[in-house]
Amino acid sequence: MYYLKNFESYTNSYKNSVENPEAFWNTIAKDNFVWKRPWSRVLDWDFSIPKISWFEGAQLNITENCIDRHLEHNAEKTAILFEPNNPNDTSEAITYNELHKRVNQFANVLKSKGIQKGDRVCVYLPMIPELAISVLACARIGAIHSVVFAGFSANALSSRINDCDCKLLITSDGGYRGAKTIDLKSIVDTALLDCEGIESVLVAKRIHKDIPMVSGRDFWLQPLLETASESCEATVMDAEDPLFILYTSGSTGQPKGMVHTTAGYMVYSAYTFKNIFQYEPDDVYWCTADIGWITGHSYIVYGPLLNGATTLMFEGVPSYPDYGRFWSIVEKHKVSQFYTAPTAIRALAKQGLDLVSPYDLSSLKILGTVGEPINEEAWHWYNDHIGKRKCPIVDTWWQTETGGIMISPIPNSFEGKPTFATLPFVGIQAALMDEKGDEIEGNSVEGRLCIKFPWPSMARTIWGNHQRYKETYFSAYEQNYFTGDGALRDENGHYRITGRVDDVIIVSGHNLGTAPIEDAINEHPNVAESAIVGYPHDIKGSALYGYVTLKKSDEMNDALKIEINQLISKQIGPIAKLDKIQFTSGLPKTRSGKIMRRILRKIASKDTSNLGDISTLLNPEVVETIMKNSL
Ligand code: WTA
Repeated sequence: MYYLKNFESYTNSYKNSVENPEAFWNTIAKDNFVWKRPWSRVLDWDFSIPKISWFEGAQLNITENCIDRHLEHNAEKTAILFEPNNPNDTSEAITYNELHKRVNQFANVLKSKGIQKGDRVCVYLPMIPELAISVLACARIGAIHSVVFAGFSANALSSRINDCDCKLLITSDGGYRGAKTIDLKSIVDTALLDCEGIESVLVAKRIHKDIPMVSGRDFWLQPLLETASESCEATVMDAEDPLFILYTSGSTGQPKGMVHTTAGYMVYSAYTFKNIFQYEPDDVYWCTADIGWITGHSYIVYGPLLNGATTLMFEGVPSYPDYGRFWSIVEKHKVSQFYTAPTAIRALAKQGLDLVSPYDLSSLKILGTVGEPINEEAWHWYNDHIGKRKCPIVDTWWQTETGGIMISPIPNSFEGKPTFATLPFVGIQAALMDEKGDEIEGNSVEGRLCIKFPWPSMARTIWGNHQRYKETYFSAYEQNYFTGDGALRDENGHYRITGRVDDVIIVSGHNLGTAPIEDAINEHPNVAESAIVGYPHDIKGSALYGYVTLKKSDEMNDALKIEINQLISKQIGPIAKLDKIQFTSGLPKTRSGKIMRRILRKIASKDTSNLGDISTLLNPEVVETIMKNSL
């Protein structure tokens, strides 16, 4: 796959990709994939509608590109290397040949349950091979997969199932997570009380627990797979047919179902994977994300398999059986590329080097980070103690909406610099905007990060709500995609992402909208009002601070705090629980009644030296009380 080798080849390619984007992507698409029919037009776009269409007229199936085409020369190469939660259990190497059979069998099971091209299938599974296989099985027959991270609660699951009318759900009898087992099926059963559209549930066995099965609806997966045919013709897909939906938090309660389509997503996820991770045929690549997030979709499943790579899937957690687990896996499987999140790096760094030094990490060639800004200390720890100062670090900035990495160092072309995502990838026309909506030209400037021109893997819409797509991403800055992030550009044109400028808070690498959390809290009968802000946290990056006003002030007590967190767990999931809850008699508001989160954020961050002018507030007196009682 067309390879960026040095700074000169990057700058030349970048220049071509901007001056003549259609010719640039035409070559990459033509040279590196198998198509059933070529395109008639590379790109058609208009950000004011917004409409984005890549490779119009082309036909293909992404699974033939991920699997079938590797069978001729690499049938016996390991495609997926599964490392189980328990280090004493044996790992499993699934070859491309075997993956082909298992995906086909699974696809045939889906068909036998009535799933057809365009139907939505929800996948709610732990990190076991069936998760990757079910995603590919959907793609094989043109069903649209909607993977929901298995840490989400029953309510969060049912709202996602209903939002896109899923017909079938794939889950398991449970999952292992460190020393704990997770009872997934009972969460599913609760969720499905509210989901009329689900006709069948396929249940994989993982923890071999005796669980209730609803007759006529629930089916054990294994017996169906065993009798299914190992061949399944790949459904012909149009370039712009949806491949998957993946939900992300927004600034209103309802999560946004980002829709990714087939051809553009394939081209961009494959091309970025190859060039940013510099994958070579014998490498073992490991991304520690969960397939329930976009990082797992693009850089555990699609990007690596499109390149014929060996991609490692880890079921467990970094702390089990101890905090040396990641490094023991690197040693055991001779991992060459390791891709993780800053929150994991900080948690591991805190444990000290005794848990790193016993392991041989000499197989590592490239280290990656994603999900939130990486702080300088964590970057250096990663560089010094994991990469031993010989592995380039790729600090990759991107989003669920972008489908693939947008800004990142490219090893061998140009280096990283601590806390900087550095330069836009080829084809990515980044821009910084001021608050008035004008582009800020030149270097050594700071603003809001936008992208001026389409790239192949951008999300095409929000499922069922194109208007919201337009308002969220294309309305703040005319003819630009707005990312929701702030960034600065240094004297060399390198970007550093400074963080969200909207109501999304990134906690341990997970995006959480403040609105859905506040909605959950406000459901408590004693609560009048609430506001959530983020504050700096050593390991999580940001943690959640909740200001809660009660209907009756004599009810402030710790038991109520526990109830509030239980409500959040139930509505969203334990990842959204608050670290601190402060009861207040009121929230600072503007005269038009808007909560002044800026002030609450400063108080939560213990940064109260300059609160700005509070005299224009409707109720300036509450600020003092909130400060006095802050936690
Ligand atoms: C943040 C994850 C700084 C950013 C792939 C973005 C980052 C949001 C980085 C998207 C990075 C992601 N440096 N910030 N390297 N990577 N972010 O949709 O705020 O889960 O908008 O996609 O994470 O998170 P999402």
